[in-house]
Amino acid sequence: TTRTPFIAGNWKMNLDHLQAVAFVQKLHWTLKEAGHEPESVEVGVFPPFTDIRTVQTLIDADKIPFALGAQDLSTKDSGAYTGEISGQFLSKLSCGYVIIGHSERRQYHAETDEVVAAKVQAALRHGIAPVICVGETAEDLEKFGASAVPVGQLEVALEGVSADADIVVAYEPVWAIGSGQAATPDQAQEVCAKLRAVVASKLGEDAAARTRVLYGGSVKSGNIASFMREPDVDGALVGGASLVVDEFAAIIRFQK
Ligand code: G3H
Repeated sequence: TTRTPFIAGNWKMNLDHLQAVAFVQKLHWTLKEAGHEPESVEVGVFPPFTDIRTVQTLIDADKIPFALGAQDLSTKDSGAYTGEISGQFLSKLSCGYVIIGHSERRQYHAETDEVVAAKVQAALRHGIAPVICVGETAEDLEKFGASAVPVGQLEVALEGVSADADIVVAYEPVWAIGSGQAATPDQAQEVCAKLRAVVASKLGEDAAARTRVLYGGSVKSGNIASFMREPDVDGALVGGASLVVDEFAAIIRFQK
């Protein structure tokens, strides 16, 4: 495959803007010291909104080869929407990515597939690549198997997306998030392949060949290689382990 692996760190509601500076600098130096080649793996950090300006300034000043992303955005571009963050603001802060439809937002903020689709459109309007998160709950897994729910979620999210759009898909089984119980590489491969097929049917074969499909859910330095060996897994969306410099650096430096 010609797809560049993508290791994305979703900080969730962790690390304030001061801690963010120390963290990003330490991660950068750790990778440098290990002789890591930035072209081999794309590294993304997804801090809370209040950190983004600070991290952008640091990345820029020190020429740190990390992509920057946000964890959410508004469906709207501007106006009387108290507390919301526009894609316009994010693109001006050099955010290349935005996580959309994370299970924690679906669960705690009642985000429906339709809201997720509207947010995908909002990101694309501002030239930001959406990292579209899909995944089944433990209950879904029991009732419908692993792939039916994430496939359905992705079909709705890709409604009206053009064939040349730059998107990332993240398969995150809800039961695997923060549980220490990752999916097996077999299951990750099976569902990621089906999600790539959804991209092919909605956006075409070129888009499917180009789009990175990530696995997320209890990814650690000890299991990353087993996922990266799978042909349809192009990287990982990492939560807890992305907050520990040495652990996240080891994930980035996975050996197949
Ligand atoms: O966005 C990241 C996922 O929710 C995975 O979180 O690595 O802590 O299981 P985790």
